[in-house]
Amino acid sequence: MNQPSNCHIVVLISGSGSNLQALIDASTSSNFKISTVISNNQEAYGLRRAEKYNIPVRIINHRAFKTREDFDLALRKAIDEINPNLIVLAGFMRILGSNFVSYFAGRILNIHPSLLPKYPGINTHQRVLDDGGQEHGVTVHFVTEALDGGPIIAQEKVSVLDKDTSSILAARVLEKEHIIYPKVVTWFAAGRLHMRGSQAILDNELLPPTGVPMKYETIP
Ligand code: GRF
Repeated sequence: MNQPSNCHIVVLISGSGSNLQALIDASTSSNFKISTVISNNQEAYGLRRAEKYNIPVRIINHRAFKTREDFDLALRKAIDEINPNLIVLAGFMRILGSNFVSYFAGRILNIHPSLLPKYPGINTHQRVLDDGGQEHGVTVHFVTEALDGGPIIAQEKVSVLDKDTSSILAARVLEKEHIIYPKVVTWFAAGRLHMRGSQAILDNELLPPTGVPMKYETIP
């Protein structure tokens, strides 16, 4: 039998939504429920995924707004109407301004395809290959005003292989993303994960700069 789902989350997407799918799959047997999926892009395939599971969707096209602040405000109002416990960015390709981020402080998570603080921004996989990096991975962090710079909750590494192309490497990182993100959301939903000031706290312990100190599989 499913556990009661008291933690309501809103997932923000712009594209394929494979992380959204991982969250949908996990939510059926976990402690959180996806209230609504919001996209800035009406073509986002993730919207189809949500509709398949009867999850309400909303499209807020950033191009319809004169300024970044106007878009942020519309997004904030839409989210306030839904009144979720948590906002989960899952491939949401808009930078959120400081007013938005501070309004929802401690209630926004992001997943980024690199071992932050290395490779913030876009094209992370190609940049790792161009640099001849041997190690790559994924980071889940709280969102603050610093782009891809909020307190790190968890990371998972992958080795870079000789035969890797950007897309092969991206696929291997995505596999890790789909495991790590639902896991972190369940920690938040269980009231175990918080942001205090600029630090992430799990089970009352301050997390170190690289997030959970052991492989996440060992933390239930
Ligand atoms: C993922 O690599 C995620 O880390 C990044 O954007 C990508 C989204 O992929 N923020 P998907 O839409 O979840 O498939």
